[in-house]
Amino acid sequence: MVGLPARGKSYTARRIERYLSWLGYRTGVFNVGEYRRARVGAQLPHSFFDPDNLHGEEARRAAAMAALEDMVVWLTDEGQVAIYDATNTTRAEIRCDDPTIIEANIRSTKLSSPDYADTDPEEAVIDFRARIAHYQRVYQPLGDDEGAYLRVTGAGRGVTVSNVDGYLAGRLVFFLMNLHLTARPIWLTRHGESVYNAAGLLGGDPDLTPDGARYAQSLTEFLDRRDPDRSGVVIWTSALRRAIQTAAPLGRSAWAWRALDEIDAGICDGMSYAQIQEHLPEEYAARKRDKFTYRYPRGESYQDIILRLDPMIIELERTRKPVLVIAHNAVLRALYAYFQGVSRERCPYLPIPLHTVIELLPLKPRLDSSGAL
Ligand code: F6P
Repeated sequence: MVGLPARGKSYTARRIERYLSWLGYRTGVFNVGEYRRARVGAQLPHSFFDPDNLHGEEARRAAAMAALEDMVVWLTDEGQVAIYDATNTTRAEIRCDDPTIIEANIRSTKLSSPDYADTDPEEAVIDFRARIAHYQRVYQPLGDDEGAYLRVTGAGRGVTVSNVDGYLAGRLVFFLMNLHLTARPIWLTRHGESVYNAAGLLGGDPDLTPDGARYAQSLTEFLDRRDPDRSGVVIWTSALRRAIQTAAPLGRSAWAWRALDEIDAGICDGMSYAQIQEHLPEEYAARKRDKFTYRYPRGESYQDIILRLDPMIIELERTRKPVLVIAHNAVLRALYAYFQGVSRERCPYLPIPLHTVIELLPLKPRLDSSGAL
């Protein structure tokens, strides 16, 4: 990460970390501000950040080197992607020149950083602006000779890509181009109870039961309360009947995505867990042993679901309106894990009950770890 303070670097770093971890890359963030606080404490005045303050300069350099060393050790050991989260203002940017965004960023994140614990908010803003000014004096914008970079300006309004090469780097560009800061909820719900749910059977393409149809009515009441003018919500369903039937009474147009279909149970589709245990005991035991990687014969694993949901995540990130997703147990576990930062391996065990709406509110720029170097 490269850029002046309060440009959203730490926020972006955490978003990248969450996305790549969810996709299965071992990803770590090394935040130099945290190293600096651990070494010399928080609550240092802006003069500490003045490039002419030799003591401050040395302490910040030492913190930066300690983070860098840990990062290199981690990368040679177990890590696959490391994000070095510091200002890095000299030659070595998330760029943002919009004063209103910078001001809002200072107020919403920096004031609750440990650097300003118990400090009067107005005084803290003044001090933080002075801190930025110190960085600005020595700030060198990115040059085209510095290797690959992606520059995001004005909270995603402009994106410049230079020398980016390779699959993962390309994915990251695509992901970052779709991030925005518009706050809106995402609602996740399973379809109403299906005939298979009532019979304890997996998969299939069954219809709703009368109880399931009643849930679809309750969901309509919920949505009418949240979206009284019936225009502001995007509705997505899977392509399966039970999800489409749950959306039918909503009285709004819905998009059906095959990518949201339930886990394909392959040869076990239409069976109950007890039947699988009785007739296919080895499959039953293998799934019990490692539910995340286990793939049903001629079907899917949770790992497979995450891969097919990747484009859905980009669409969800990109959409600025509230979104209601009507889907299924396994698929919603994977989406929930992404939004809540739950590890991939734990996702098959998350409880996503029937007849329940899960409301996800946007990830706010988190405050405590974001102090700038
Ligand atoms: O039982 C409902 C259901 O959606 C099945 O269609 C699906 O196979 C199952 O849940 C997924 O849950 P688990 O991975 O815990 O078996």
